[in-house]
Amino acid sequence: CGIVGYLGQRDGRAVVLDGLRRLEYRGYDSAGIAVVANGAVDYRKKAGKIANLAADLDAHPLPVTGTAIGHTRWATHGAPTDANSHPHVAKRAAVVHNGIIENFTVLRAELEREGAVFSSDTDSEVAVHLLERELVAGSGLVQGMRAVVAQLEGAFTLVAIDAEDPDRIVAARRNSPLVVGVGEGEYFLASDVAAFIEHTRDAIELGQDQVVELTPEGVSVTGFDGGPAETREFRIDWDLEAAQKQGFDWYMRKEIFEQPKAVADTLLGRLNQHGELMLDELHISPELLRRVNKIVIVACGTAFYAGLVAKYAIEHWTRIPCEVELASEFRYRDPIIDPATLVVTISQSGETADTLMAIRHAREQQAKVIAICNTNGATIPRESDAVIYTHAGPEIGVASTKGFTTQVVACYLLGLYLAQVRGMKYGDEIAAILAELETMPRLMQEVLDNQAPVLELAAELKDAPSVLFLGRHVGYPVALEGALKLKELAYIHAEGFAAGELKHGPIALVSQGLPMFVVVPPRGRDQLRDKVISNIAEVRARGARTIVLAEAGDDEARANADTFIELPKVSTLLQPLVATVPLQLFACELATLLGHDVDQPRNLAKSVTVE
Ligand code: G6P
Repeated sequence: CGIVGYLGQRDGRAVVLDGLRRLEYRGYDSAGIAVVANGAVDYRKKAGKIANLAADLDAHPLPVTGTAIGHTRWATHGAPTDANSHPHVAKRAAVVHNGIIENFTVLRAELEREGAVFSSDTDSEVAVHLLERELVAGSGLVQGMRAVVAQLEGAFTLVAIDAEDPDRIVAARRNSPLVVGVGEGEYFLASDVAAFIEHTRDAIELGQDQVVELTPEGVSVTGFDGGPAETREFRIDWDLEAAQKQGFDWYMRKEIFEQPKAVADTLLGRLNQHGELMLDELHISPELLRRVNKIVIVACGTAFYAGLVAKYAIEHWTRIPCEVELASEFRYRDPIIDPATLVVTISQSGETADTLMAIRHAREQQAKVIAICNTNGATIPRESDAVIYTHAGPEIGVASTKGFTTQVVACYLLGLYLAQVRGMKYGDEIAAILAELETMPRLMQEVLDNQAPVLELAAELKDAPSVLFLGRHVGYPVALEGALKLKELAYIHAEGFAAGELKHGPIALVSQGLPMFVVVPPRGRDQLRDKVISNIAEVRARGARTIVLAEAGDDEARANADTFIELPKVSTLLQPLVATVPLQLFACELATLLGHDVDQPRNLAKSVTVE
């Protein structure tokens, strides 16, 4: 979900609505705004996208005021209806909530016994009734908020206003994101900085279990217990332009085209004049890194696939065993980790709840945690021992693209760095890979410049009911990612397989005309490549329509291709950086042709801040 609060001289309704639009990628099931004016709380809320709320606001305007809060929802408890939308409102209090209140059933029963009348099926509504009870009993907003959070279990960011205290907004956070923006005599609260970068670059990162109070006099942050709280001020370096579409039809398409720059920015400043890697955000001593005997990469979604790619490279370069696991599985299976384990978490947003929980679990076992993250000020880097930022700039399209390729690059930098500090035997190879990494932005640009055949293919295949993707070695996670993109955006059944597994099941799915993408390793790894080429022949013999992604000039691969998509010549480990790009473009184009909302696919959200 996305949360926005504004306190200042301007028209709060407009500032909050605008902020919600910028956070819509976090959830778009419903949206709402509440203000305090003339001694009362007034609000509008609507199921569906923010456009529905905006239309309602046009038809039934809220009063103009400088104090407003808003919410854009990704539904957990309760269907996306008007009633279940936030803000939830009692007589005096209005509250928006992100997270899940796990003990809401008990609290709701208690409140109902006392006479509270609920108007939604959400877990969130208990928060407003609890707060109302405190306010009526004579508490101020801050004191009331502290009393409320003491009764809640689970994850929450809560933002509240009180009809009888128009110049104050109070928020609380536990396990859910919240940042404060500080302008000239005006203040912002939001789930992430995208909501207010238009107005200010100065932000305050809040910690766990903190309460923040905005008044015309300023911002005050305290702990849940009322004691002093530690916060961090930072300056936002993303530019507003980067968060706009710049003539592209979708953010996603723009972000696909930004990949050469994103990768270049991720590499920037990491090499010293001797060609050695410098990872200065890595506040873990080389001695400690030399003692690492196991690496566990933990992530969700596309970031997980970046981790799968990285495993091949990291094990090869460092000879340290490397596991890759879905954060949601890792967390609940009692994994074997100890102080010699290096846990690497990958997260574009830095807010994914499962990944965050995995970090806490790992640190409880004394493992060191390095976060690979794209978002300064987010919770995951804050709670890790060290961070390598991906510098991709804001990623708004729900389906991750430049997030993925820069995550692969950052993981590779980490792998090479580990190999360097541990004095591994692949010294020459490391220098060569580093030099080759530097050429990737140019090669990715070549792939983008040659997008026409991919777009034509999307038009040809737009009515396909099912599409399969095959790959081996690092081509396998590329296949998984290609399939995920298509599922997410086009709502088509799509599966990625390890090509070697074909004969163990997937080949039974092959029928006349079934589109099958196959990622062919570059020449040079010929054993690997030969096997994949045989796989193409096998599926084609059974009627599949083959779409072959292979190095330019690979005539053997071309011989069995119904469609041949040329990739630049790169070494095997770097091939995912170029091979993923056509698959992203394909999914984006096909979904566009089907008339889907590419940036906000149904049922998904960009930051999944609930477990
Ligand atoms: C959501 C997004 C995906 C993303 C995943 C992990 O499911 O829709 O695109 O890969 O979360 O997100 P993170 O921010 O942790 O990389």
